[in-house]
Amino acid sequence: MTTHELEQLLMQQPVSLLHRLARGRISRHFRSGKRKLVDLLLQASAENRPGLESDLAALIEERTSREQIAPVVKPRPEKVHTRPATTSASPRPHKTEDHGHHEPPVSLHEWLSGIGVPPPQPFVPDAWQVDALAKLAETDVVVSVPTGSGKTYVAIEATARAMRENRTVIYTSPLKALSNTKFTEFSRVFGPGQVGILTGDRREHAQAPLLIMTTEILRNLLYDAAGGEIDVRLDTLGLVIMDESQYLADPERGVVWEETLIFCPSQARLLLLSASIGNPQDIADWLTAIRPTPCSLIRHTKRSVPLRAGYLHPNEKLTPLFRTAGIPYGQPHLLHPEAKRLFMEYEEETGPSRSR
Ligand SMILES: Nc1ncnc2c1ncn2[C@@H]1O[C@H](COP(=O)(O)OP(=O)(O)OP(=O)(O)O)[C@@H](O)[C@H]1O
Ligand SMILES: [Mg+2]
Repeated sequence: MTTHELEQLLMQQPVSLLHRLARGRISRHFRSGKRKLVDLLLQASAENRPGLESDLAALIEERTSREQIAPVVKPRPEKVHTRPATTSASPRPHKTEDHGHHEPPVSLHEWLSGIGVPPPQPFVPDAWQVDALAKLAETDVVVSVPTGSGKTYVAIEATARAMRENRTVIYTSPLKALSNTKFTEFSRVFGPGQVGILTGDRREHAQAPLLIMTTEILRNLLYDAAGGEIDVRLDTLGLVIMDESQYLADPERGVVWEETLIFCPSQARLLLLSASIGNPQDIADWLTAIRPTPCSLIRHTKRSVPLRAGYLHPNEKLTPLFRTAGIPYGQPHLLHPEAKRLFMEYEEETGPSRSR
């Protein structure tokens, strides 16, 4: 898409969609009118054009499908007194509660369809994965893409590249359990002797070229280095991967991520992975400001694994939570009739009259 085409497409969108696209890309975008917003988005697209285009496409798709589900409510005709006098005694029609949504609710079978193991296919990296790896050759990178998109592939390829250059790699995660899982997964990929783990509970292969640790352990290593006690791993450190980096915003532990990023040796590349950073551009800008290497942002919001919302009643009955297969954006009242029925059943079973 040329810049002119992108501009045209942006101008055709409602301003509310442009504001959603601007979230995390443009600070204080809510103050801008449409023309200004489009100009700012075009400027922001220079940083990560594929990400902006794919987010825009996803928002347009979401809007189109929403419009298909919710037909535009036509204004009422002016004449409202249509009930003939003779019908005054007839029962009033029940007020419908589906707010204009007349399609039959999705069945449990339809809602579950597609879940399972897909047929094997040759692995082809997605454009954003290729882009992230290319950017990482030159800059630090923040990857902010939905869950299940394939961030681990970027981590593994970047690690393999650093290891080929005889650089060590540190991979941090916020949880001991996740560190253990990644230790097993990466040992399978790189070979057991190539991967070590350092957590509060476990210390294995501490001199391996790829070390998995909790972020607290890395922060402590960097504290020691700052105190002059250089750890040999930090001399050859080529890459630090911080998985689940949204912990930077954690009220209690966030400071550990912040200090780790500030103290991270300048010769090491940083790769931050997350599915849930609201303002990734701010994080990339901050890293660019505090480190000698600029930081690029790889971002998109299109889910490769769609979310489904369901309700599992304690009696083990499962039902879609909403009338539609997807999660209705901005229309949480679209509850599935079966879910409503199960809620009420649950209320009746557990209500105060029962517990007495
Ligand atoms: N380009 C691709 N094409 C098809 N499948 C892929 C691709 N990249 C990764 N996958 C598969 O997608 C699945 C999810 O990948 P991964 O665990 O890396 O997601 P993630 O982005 O780290 O998610 P989370 O936010 O939950 O940690 C894995 O089974 C992986 O093999
Ligand atoms: Mg992951």
